[in-house]
Amino acid sequence: MASGTRYAGKVVVVTGGGRGIGAGIVRAFAESGAHVVICDKDESNARVLEQQLPGTVFVRSDVTREEDLQTLIAETIRLFGRLDCVVNNAGYHPVAQWPEDTSAQDFRQLLELNLLGYYSLTKLALPHLRKSQGNIINISSLVGAIGQTQALPYVATKGAVTAMTKALALDESKYGVRVNCISPGNIWTPLWEMLAASSPDPQATILEGVLAQPLGRMGQPAEVGAAAVFLASEATFCTGIELRLTGGAELGYGSKASRDTPLEIPMLPPDFPRQSLACTTSPQEQLPAP
Ligand SMILES: NC(=O)c1ccc[n+]([C@@H]2O[C@H](COP(=O)([O-])OP(=O)(O)OC[C@H]3O[C@@H](n4cnc5c(N)ncnc54)[C@H](O)[C@@H]3O)[C@@H](O)[C@H]2O)c1
Repeated sequence: MASGTRYAGKVVVVTGGGRGIGAGIVRAFAESGAHVVICDKDESNARVLEQQLPGTVFVRSDVTREEDLQTLIAETIRLFGRLDCVVNNAGYHPVAQWPEDTSAQDFRQLLELNLLGYYSLTKLALPHLRKSQGNIINISSLVGAIGQTQALPYVATKGAVTAMTKALALDESKYGVRVNCISPGNIWTPLWEMLAASSPDPQATILEGVLAQPLGRMGQPAEVGAAAVFLASEATFCTGIELRLTGGAELGYGSKASRDTPLEIPMLPPDFPRQSLACTTSPQEQLPAP
């Protein structure tokens, strides 16, 4: 999908790069000519990717462990001598849960991964990104802006990622470091598969996920990858933006009240003159007289 030399010679770190959206981003950067350091806590998929894609190297690391992230950056600099782009992507969406079923402990753990993981790697990378006038891409989520039912802690972490992106874009602008985020909607990944499988009717859940987009399909990891390469290589006047990659999921009205919500439904009076709704005059005749 990507075009060969758009990011040639640049060095990119992608967290959670072993599968799903992260793997799509790794592939797109590798195909654009960049060296890519794949960070993942799981080895199996990342090793396969490393074998398949020349110019990639896997450094096993857990983004919730500061010492792993120190090693990740040190290895990147040792191998390639520079760092141009960090893609913070490693994250998790817990299975559907009502607010009363959440716990502060689980919320804290999710913050450690979805928010502080991004923050910690960013801090360690910044000295190198300032040298290269590089950029950061945070993978947030559409639901951080529009909300999602039964996902309170997840939505909170993603809203914070988008806000953090804007704050950091302001602070880093004086060093020439750009900071942007991508907010995907429904992207078909192993995480989505797992969430569907944990629902009472997986196939119905998948259909609902497809129907959420006016385009009538979910997005592919490669499409997020293409957007990331664009932000890193060509979007040189973009900083602090949230690029929504949603297939239009946030557009228009939809049925949003749950079945348990008491409804207030206005009624037309029984004698409402229905035929008066029809337009019986031509548009010219409706114009006020001059
Ligand atoms: N799939 C979607 O529809 C969707 C939509 C919006 C946002 N997102 C976001 O995109 C990102 C990737 O989602 P995905 O669907 O590809 O997920 P995924 O579960 O399919 O892949 C996530 C990858 O991150 C790795 N990972 C998890 N915890 C890690 C850690 N502590 N350290 C290092 N690596 C770790 C996993 O091993 C895995 O390889 C997440 O931040 C997610 O919130 C996904």
